[in-house]
Amino acid sequence: MTDLIEVHGLEKSFGPHHVLRGVDFAAPAGSVTVLLGPSGSGKTTILRSMNVLATPDAGVVRIGDSSIDFSRPPDRRAIKSLRARSGMVFQAHNLFPHKTVLGNLIEGPVQVQKRSPDEAAADARALLEQVGLSGREDAYPSQLSGGQQQRVGIARALALKPEVLLLDEPTSALDPELVGEVLAVIRDLAAENWTLVIVTHEVHFAQDVADQVLFLDEGVVAERGGAEVLTDPQEERTRRFLARMLDAG
Ligand SMILES: Nc1ncnc2c1ncn2[C@@H]1O[C@H](COP(=O)(O)OP(=O)(O)O)[C@@H](O)[C@H]1O
Ligand SMILES: [Mg+2]
Repeated sequence: MTDLIEVHGLEKSFGPHHVLRGVDFAAPAGSVTVLLGPSGSGKTTILRSMNVLATPDAGVVRIGDSSIDFSRPPDRRAIKSLRARSGMVFQAHNLFPHKTVLGNLIEGPVQVQKRSPDEAAADARALLEQVGLSGREDAYPSQLSGGQQQRVGIARALALKPEVLLLDEPTSALDPELVGEVLAVIRDLAAENWTLVIVTHEVHFAQDVADQVLFLDEGVVAERGGAEVLTDPQEERTRRFLARMLDAG
């Protein structure tokens, strides 16, 4: 079976700062890839490159049958096509504060994808049920807890029907007591065979869900493997990083 995601030779500099130095990985459909590594190692830049929010200097990103080789300037159609394959969930949810939950969920499908408001609303209600927020469609973001807002953020990304969900530290801005409910939603998505790429420092959660673990350090994948990377790392820098994470948690 071919992989749903392929990232090859990804390079990115910001001015003199060489942030990604040849990142390679692949992931089959239905798999969970966990990215971890110290702050500044390039994790967010990888996710942003996959969604073409950042433009790599070189390398190939393929999701499904949409692919861009960044060694040439990509055209607008290719960017649009690749971008549509993935949905992003950020650390802070970035919901529109003046729109209701339902309004937030149907905005992209209706405005960007030109779907009918009725159909988008029906899908949105099903997604709200999936993230445990049935009946909250008329609430405004400010009336929800941070954990509920982040669950709406996940539903909003799914509303665009991506093939892959990219989650960048989805719980790190939350109060500790709200982390569990968001992780539970992500666990459900994994159980339903969503293809996920997650940056997280929640090591125990990662052990449960990860099919693949990539440890990033200074813009390269310094260690990779299955969930055993988290319990039995081979590289000294992975070991030191995990020890710090487990101490902090
Ligand atoms: N838009 C940008 N402009 C300049 N430097 C950036 C930009 N985005 C990221 N960087 C730098 O690239 C490095 C990697 O960033 P990032 O991918 O956010 O790392 P991580 O998510 O692993 O903490 C950091 O040193 C960061 O300061
Ligand atoms: Mg980051």
